[in-house]
Amino acid sequence: MIRKYIFGEPFETEAVTEEIKTEAGLPDYGRISEEEGFSFSYRMCEEDIVYGLGEANRGINKRGYCYVSDCTDDPNHTEDKRSLYGAHNFIVVSGRETFGLFFDYPARITFDIGYTESDLLKVSCEAADLKLYVIEGENAYDIVKQFRRMIGRSYIPPKFAFGFGQSRWGYKTKEDFLRVLKGYRKNRIPLDMIYMDIDYMQGYKDFTVNEKNFEDFSGFVRQMKEEGVRLIPIIDAGVKVEKGYPVYEEGVEKGYFCKREDGSDFTAAVWPGDTHFPDMLNPEAREWFGDHYRFLIHQGIEGFWNDMNEPAIFYSREGMEELKAVLHKYLEEEEKDIPVWELGDRIEGIANHPEDYKRFYHCIDGCRIRHDKVHNLYGYNMTRAAAEAFDRIEPDKRFLMFSRSSYVGMHRYGGVWTGDNKSWWSHLLLNLKMMPSLNMCGFLYSGADLGGFGCDASRDLVLRWLALGVFTPLMRNHAAVGTREQEAYQFGDTGDFRGIIETRYRLIPYLYSEYMKAALQDDLYFKPLAFVYPQDSFAAGVEDQLMIGDEIMAAPVYMQNAKGRYVYLPERMLFVKFKKDGLYTEEILEKGHHYVEVALDEVPLFIREGRCIPAAEPAQTVAELDTKELKLLGFPGTEYLLYEDDGVCKDYEKPENYRKLKKTN
Ligand code: GLC
Repeated sequence: MIRKYIFGEPFETEAVTEEIKTEAGLPDYGRISEEEGFSFSYRMCEEDIVYGLGEANRGINKRGYCYVSDCTDDPNHTEDKRSLYGAHNFIVVSGRETFGLFFDYPARITFDIGYTESDLLKVSCEAADLKLYVIEGENAYDIVKQFRRMIGRSYIPPKFAFGFGQSRWGYKTKEDFLRVLKGYRKNRIPLDMIYMDIDYMQGYKDFTVNEKNFEDFSGFVRQMKEEGVRLIPIIDAGVKVEKGYPVYEEGVEKGYFCKREDGSDFTAAVWPGDTHFPDMLNPEAREWFGDHYRFLIHQGIEGFWNDMNEPAIFYSREGMEELKAVLHKYLEEEEKDIPVWELGDRIEGIANHPEDYKRFYHCIDGCRIRHDKVHNLYGYNMTRAAAEAFDRIEPDKRFLMFSRSSYVGMHRYGGVWTGDNKSWWSHLLLNLKMMPSLNMCGFLYSGADLGGFGCDASRDLVLRWLALGVFTPLMRNHAAVGTREQEAYQFGDTGDFRGIIETRYRLIPYLYSEYMKAALQDDLYFKPLAFVYPQDSFAAGVEDQLMIGDEIMAAPVYMQNAKGRYVYLPERMLFVKFKKDGLYTEEILEKGHHYVEVALDEVPLFIREGRCIPAAEPAQTVAELDTKELKLLGFPGTEYLLYEDDGVCKDYEKPENYRKLKKTN
């Protein structure tokens, strides 16, 4: 049961696709105040758990902290951070009363979930202009499914996107890409994608390719594809300001860039230096920007990642002038009353400054709206621009697309990766905890930079993180320029890496099938244990194990030097440990607590009582997987319903896509 309440004059975000009639009056839960902006307050009971918020910091249970939906380019995801790249304003309170809330509001909104007062849930924002959806259901899981139905079907990538991808900021030339390809193929480690970070472009200009480094680009794309690898270029939100650059000139001429109050094009510095931001919220500008993806698609490209689309601002002209004045006072006029530490903060704080987001405007249906009022919709609409263009360019084909910044609604157009994490063990665990929350908000195709983006990775961290990545739909190793090289062949004894990545390929028939079922039924691919075992009070508190699809549970190791880990089994399960060289062990474990040993080169998984899963022989690419002859792992005398399609077209509903598999012995 979903009830919709409208306050003030909300901006149409198009997050919700289902038609829901508006209620008069106020929701049955909590207290609403419209006195100073808007706030929703609810007194929580001790046993209440709060789920949701998608890409947010901390745990699966969001209680005990304060989160702010305010899409932010912040590479330091330390525990104290309140905002990350996404804004996913959906929560479920589960306990004495169980209900879901979706605050459809496109600007900064705060979720204080028992932080200021430990029993108070308070959601507040500056303007009382929003839509609030209140969802009731049998339990948290049922509420999540209703929410998912309400926001429309999640994005479905092509099947190759379930392969393994290698990325690194700093690959510049054809030779760099060929070296990566060789590193993988020589060591027989599977690989389907190599990502192209900003250096493939000419001067960081969107929709250009550096001609010196990539002579005959389309020939190169073809050559790589013949080797089984797709190149996946990055597209940044900002368009370089440069005379003679057609994207810039067209955008200026047509008035498609975000404008300052005085009508001039707003300028912000990002990778290329001065850039303008395409007005992604304006349908015409969106169509224009999206059409530019054609340039790369026509050269054989089948997937992209959209970046810097919070939008990230290193600094604005105006911000720089203000800082200059402060520095001038300090340096030249000997005005030293500004404390030095504050000076440091001022310099650092020039990036992504809240004031900058008030300096530019969007134009929607002839109306001007200041950016900060719709800030969280920018990355969403950049990705929508691309996805709508793909539909125009090749309507029957699926493209790989994921974004850094997002809002609910974007889940229909693409996936997300969780941005610039670090090579830290705590970020491996954060990755694990974020996955079910992202799924609840519609983002099924998701994953983190495996091995960590910033800082130097150690061999054991990369192995353990890959072993989690085996299960994330997006499985990509990515690292920042200047950090230790962390491709799977960089740490000696590549057999360990091959074994783990091969396990991913062995499991693709199952993982893809469960992904597709989750997408087609508005269901979850990753679930907290409590969703599957609602009566089990211990399961409710488990934050470091996940249910994946309907058959399995994953329990990755996330601590350095650990020889294994404790795991809780809410029912009897078959413990399968995948090892290298195609080997695996099986052991039935009873319901309860166990310590399981897991070596660095092993991938543990648990099959639920009375279930089985299909597994293939490993292959070097998804296309080479033989799914005719699948082995079934699990309990004898059980069945599995396999979903399988060509992985390319959009004919999802064909009955032939389902095949019943029986495990006889
Ligand atoms: C941003 C992205 C990162 C990318 C870098 C350079 O930091 O999040 O993935 O490597 O920009 O493009």
